[in-house]
Amino acid sequence: MHCLFELLFEENIVAPIPSNPTLIVDLGTGSGKWAIDVAEDEKTSSAKVIGIDLSPIQPTDVPENVEFYCEDFIVELHQLDGGRILHESSADLIHSRMVKSGVQEWQWDGLVRRVFHFLKPGVGWAQFTEGTSLSWDGDAVHQSSHLYKVSSLCNEAD
Ligand SMILES: C[S@@+](CC[C@H](N)C(=O)[O-])C[C@H]1O[C@@H](n2cnc3c(N)ncnc32)[C@H](O)[C@@H]1O
Repeated sequence: MHCLFELLFEENIVAPIPSNPTLIVDLGTGSGKWAIDVAEDEKTSSAKVIGIDLSPIQPTDVPENVEFYCEDFIVELHQLDGGRILHESSADLIHSRMVKSGVQEWQWDGLVRRVFHFLKPGVGWAQFTEGTSLSWDGDAVHQSSHLYKVSSLCNEAD
């Protein structure tokens, strides 16, 4: 998925964050690939990059400026590492991508408010990316295919 988005956007960060960022947070980091790429990028390597996910599937051999936390970002943002990691007005960028399956509709409002609380006033950015189902022309995708079924179910759910 990370590679797909890299091809699509050509950049990991499209938000115009300040130069020399100090703190970047990735909610629902998954494989951690986005967080690692950002930590290694010379434009953002000044930052500590925090990845949070319910599943501890991230690699352990990572750049020094990357830390992963196995937590629920809906309830635990304030409490990361006993509250030592994320403070009010501290983050240059809070990123989340394709996490909608883990966030119920009624939780988004509170989540966005919390994200705002942690961003540096006036300069911090939130970058949220969510997808919707695929569409195509004519019979390009056969109705018996998994892609067709998944997409139809997503359309129904949207
Ligand atoms: C589809 S994956 C996307 C991974 C990554 N953001 C990417 O774009 O490659 C969604 C990830 O969000 C995580 N996730 C969903 N809800 C979460 C929550 N409330 N707290 C922490 N992680 C969550 C899941 O465990 C999963 O790893």
